Amino acid sequence: MTYRSVDEGLERSTDKWMISGLVVMVILILGFLFYSWFEPAARADSLEEHQASLVAQGADLYSLNCGSCHGPQGEGGVGPGLNSQQFLAATVDDQVKGLISTGIPGSLMAAYSLDFGGPLTLEEIDALTAYMRSWEETAPDNPDWRSCCG
Ligand code: HEC
Repeated sequence: MTYRSVDEGLERSTDKWMISGLVVMVILILGFLFYSWFEPAARADSLEEHQASLVAQGADLYSLNCGSCHGPQGEGGVGPGLNSQQFLAATVDDQVKGLISTGIPGSLMAAYSLDFGGPLTLEEIDALTAYMRSWEETAPDNPDWRSCCG
């Protein structure tokens, strides 16, 4: 008799703990599902925001440093047209960044990165490149983008 009542007490307490454990587990699983449902969207949103602010910064840098030679909208001038569909399709970002960083020796195109004696950080050159890429969707057909300078 005595044993039984001890066992019953123990059983009740064990049940209580098991139920608490289950509740905690369910909360954790729901929390995880909730997180994995919303996290990718949050990440995509913040990537998009980052990209938009990079492009906006690039636009400012472009009009300050580049528009005078390459045209306010990249249409070309003393320097080649940069918003040419063909130019944008023919280059990857690293090439564009390289050209801006080192410049083109023997031409009016100066080196722009701090590493090569220019005024811009690599982050600013990334922003410029992102801005130039933002032209890509609507870039005009201009196979002679280098007509300015051979
Ligand atoms: C003083 C005028 C001048 C300024 C300012 C200038 N560029 Fe240039 N850029 C040129 C000329 C000229 C060339 C062509 C050089 C050559 O190939 O002989 C050129 C070439 C380039 C090219 C390579 C294009 C190609 O088809 O070969 C890129 C990219 C470029 N410039 C980006 C920029 C960016 C971005 C800025 C601003 C940070 C800038 N340039 C500022 C004159 C300029």
